Amino acid sequence: MDALTLRTERLVLLPLGVPDLDEAAALYSDESVMRYADGGTRDRPTAARQLEANERCWRSDGWGLWAVRNAETGAFIGECGFRRITDVPGATVEFSCTISRRNWGQGFAAEAGNAVLYDGWDRLKGDLVHAVVPHDNRAGGQMLRMLGFRRLEDQLIHGEEQQVWDLQRLN
Ligand SMILES: CC(C)(COP(=O)(O)OP(=O)(O)OC[C@H]1O[C@@H](n2cnc3c(N)ncnc32)[C@H](O)[C@@H]1OP(=O)(O)O)[C@@H](O)C(=O)NCCC(=O)NCCS
Repeated sequence: MDALTLRTERLVLLPLGVPDLDEAAALYSDESVMRYADGGTRDRPTAARQLEANERCWRSDGWGLWAVRNAETGAFIGECGFRRITDVPGATVEFSCTISRRNWGQGFAAEAGNAVLYDGWDRLKGDLVHAVVPHDNRAGGQMLRMLGFRRLEDQLIHGEEQQVWDLQRLN
């Protein structure tokens, strides 16, 4: 994988991959966080498969999810970036951000999300990115609004009412 790095004031981001398995598996096993994520909690083998798929996405398309870490200590904070989406008509790329519970409310999603989106328009081929969150996910919706996303009509996805958002390339 390329030695890609994004840096912000407090964060360093590198493509998320198999070396991040311990920390990602811990994040994916936390029910208080993953109740808002597509599919809920994931076990370690599922986490490993997803990290491998994310590495393949970086290799084939040049974009994917980033591991978000504290720039000073290297501590894992969460993940943020892009993945393929197939369940929303007209959507191909989904923006996603998941921050570990103890790091909520400190502006990390805002800081990581802005960096990922700014960088992402150079990597993505299309002009539109979507995001999907459960209808009762206030924090997720507020984060998306703050990042500039526009809320579309809610949709029934996998039997659940979900907020659907999109963000258009500006230039
Ligand atoms: C959504 C999530 C990523 C936000 O992470 P965070 O680092 O706590 O968010 P930030 O501190 O950067 O705040 C971003 C915005 O969301 C708002 N926000 C954060 N938590 C909130 C809450 N519980 N209720 C309402 N708004 C909230 C903040 O006020 C801020 O908006 P503002 O700038 O207008 O004030 C985090 O709660 C999470 O990982 N949730 C589970 C996964 C998820 O829902 N992801 C979203 C789908 S992409």
